[in-house]
Amino acid sequence: MSLNVLIIAAGLGTRMKSRRAKVLHEVAGRPLIGYGLRTAWALKPERLFIVIGHQAEAVRAVVEDEIAHIAGDEASAPQVEFIVQSKQRGTGHAVMVAREALARASGSVVIYYGDAPLIRSETIDKLVRQHREGGYAASMLTVMMDDPTGYGRIVRDEAGHFVRIIEHRDASPEQRRIREVNPGLYCFEIPPLLEALDHLSPKNVQGEYYLPDVFAILQHRGYPIGLFLHDCADEFLGVNNRVELANVGARLRRQVLQALMLSGVTIVDPDSTYISADARIGQDTIIHPQVIIEGRTRIGEECEIHSWSRIVDSQLGDRVTVKNGCVIVNSRLGDAVVVGPFAHLRMEAELAPEARVGNFVEVKKSRLGRKTKAMHLAYLGDATIGERVNIGAGTITCNYDGQRKHPTFIEDDVKLGSDTMLVAPVRVGRGAVTGAGAVVTKDVPEHALAVGVPAVVKKRLKT
Ligand code: UD1
Ligand code: CA
Repeated sequence: MSLNVLIIAAGLGTRMKSRRAKVLHEVAGRPLIGYGLRTAWALKPERLFIVIGHQAEAVRAVVEDEIAHIAGDEASAPQVEFIVQSKQRGTGHAVMVAREALARASGSVVIYYGDAPLIRSETIDKLVRQHREGGYAASMLTVMMDDPTGYGRIVRDEAGHFVRIIEHRDASPEQRRIREVNPGLYCFEIPPLLEALDHLSPKNVQGEYYLPDVFAILQHRGYPIGLFLHDCADEFLGVNNRVELANVGARLRRQVLQALMLSGVTIVDPDSTYISADARIGQDTIIHPQVIIEGRTRIGEECEIHSWSRIVDSQLGDRVTVKNGCVIVNSRLGDAVVVGPFAHLRMEAELAPEARVGNFVEVKKSRLGRKTKAMHLAYLGDATIGERVNIGAGTITCNYDGQRKHPTFIEDDVKLGSDTMLVAPVRVGRGAVTGAGAVVTKDVPEHALAVGVPAVVKKRLKT
């Protein structure tokens, strides 16, 4: 029996009051839609349909990027098909535009919305099992919500039999008191679903085609429908506005931290630690309070990240120490590197193993070789620096002439005196030394001592 998944993510997200499509807003460092996609992957469906519409191109690009990222971790992948709903005329309409695509698939289709990132694949598996065991044409979960505001309510007759789903906006005050709601997770056999879609009508407050109406239609037409009360309502908290965005984000953040802790990462204070759902952190790494780790950052084992540091889309090897107050963006740090306190690494800064970057040092688009040290007050931009180099306090690569950026090369075993200015493009040869305050405007030969303003070669050093 084949299983397919359809994710509805074409809506405007009016209540977000945003220029950005709702499913592109991030929670725990990942776009909302990324969660629904991962859930779909876990279900191993044959086909995955994604209905996009509002800002379709932006959403498609993010979905493709997410899929490429998921595909890296997973062996099997569904066949993915985008469907464009150019006018958003309701959740039922979103499935109507997918009609032809669905007709090409066979078996069952699980449908959920792109704004509910907490749904677990285990819950969906259970629904599909119950749906199949009962031989239903359509099945859905229901949950009891203490505050059902905004959700479609499950209307039942006196005997408790399902009558229909009424949207919050269409409900009478009495119906609004119903606490049993539609969490927005469905499983259908494809032919009866297609049949019911033909009978949807937009006669409601919003003038929209509502997908939940399919249940009353199918029941009316004599199909068996299954409703299963599920006991974890929190799983279905959706994101309709920014208050819910923060609430759902907080839950996801806790899940991410918990998973990391259970995998062997020490998080000293989970309440003040923010780690992206896409970050990977190795065993016995210690994260101190008030650390922020964003994007697809990878941190190795036995690292220590001290308070007030922010690490974005970077790779850290094993046994790396990041001292207090560092900002590390798009950079790579080899094993046993030490940075900070108060260092700024950005734009593909690369530190080879055992390199050290200290207080108030900025490294931009530069590579520091093994065991090279820049311990105090330096700016290193567009520089390629060899091994065992010692960069004196206050050294600056003057890489910008007002119009263009120029490279600096510093070869192995160089010692730059304090306050050396390297006016790029320039090269300092292997083993050379500069005096304090040297302004280097011309290449310095290997094993030479260069001093003064502008720097001149004083002597050759013994090697
Ligand atoms: C929907 C359900 C409601 C349920 C709730 C659970 C409907 C009519 N109502 O309400 O019964 O309790 O979810 O969270 O289905 N979308 C489109 N195209 C459209 C309209 C919406 O793609 O034309 C997408 C939206 O992007 C969103 C999803 O469908 O991701 C749900 O739409 P939304 O407006 O958030 O529905 P709710 O009011 O939350
Ligand atoms: Ca919603």
